[in-house]
Amino acid sequence: MESFTVSESPLAELIRGRRTINLFQPEPPPLATLLQAIELARWAPNHKHTEPWTFHLIGPQTAERIVDLNAQLVAQAKGAAAGEAKRTRWAAVPGWLAVTCECSDDPLQAEEDYAACCCAIQNLTLHLWDAGIGVKWSTGAVTRDPAFYELLGIDRSERRVIGLLWYGYPASVPEQRRKPVDEIVVELP
Ligand SMILES: Cc1cc2nc3c(=O)[nH]c(=O)nc-3n(C[C@H](O)[C@H](O)[C@H](O)COP(=O)(O)O)c2cc1C
Repeated sequence: MESFTVSESPLAELIRGRRTINLFQPEPPPLATLLQAIELARWAPNHKHTEPWTFHLIGPQTAERIVDLNAQLVAQAKGAAAGEAKRTRWAAVPGWLAVTCECSDDPLQAEEDYAACCCAIQNLTLHLWDAGIGVKWSTGAVTRDPAFYELLGIDRSERRVIGLLWYGYPASVPEQRRKPVDEIVVELP
């Protein structure tokens, strides 16, 4: 493969440096920063301009109910101690957001809308990272539970949960690796 120079631009650093954050400092980031991120999220590429996304700002009462629901689900699957451990960990998360996508009967439209929502989440995440705020995108079992849909106040025949996003100031930033570029590129004549 032809050699190239790895970009060190501010955008490149932002994209490469962003990490999924699991551990947060306790103070919640300002709502205004989250709203700025949502404003940018909606500029994601979006075939047919369906703008299928909704951003659900989850307040403390709803967050507590999600923590309870998740602890319950984990306790059912792995036992009471695992459920309580999960409750403690989740209760420490400072910021909560869910992203949902409009459902479509057309499978192609549904796939393209899902893709657009994923692009929107990346826009949002990169803006927050630029502001010193980390995100974890979760698609754990709780996000597929009917009670989760009830907590969000959505009908699963109309909307699909794309992700539950935690956000906050990182307490630690994990390291990640990616495959070298020459392993993921296929050159065609
Ligand atoms: C669609 C999607 C779903 C994800 N769901 C989870 C999840 O349920 N639990 C989790 O710990 N991380 C989840 N992640 C985060 C990935 O684990 C994370 O992106 C991966 O480990 C790479 O780390 P990085 O984001 O720091 O590069 C999800 C990411 C994506 C894109």
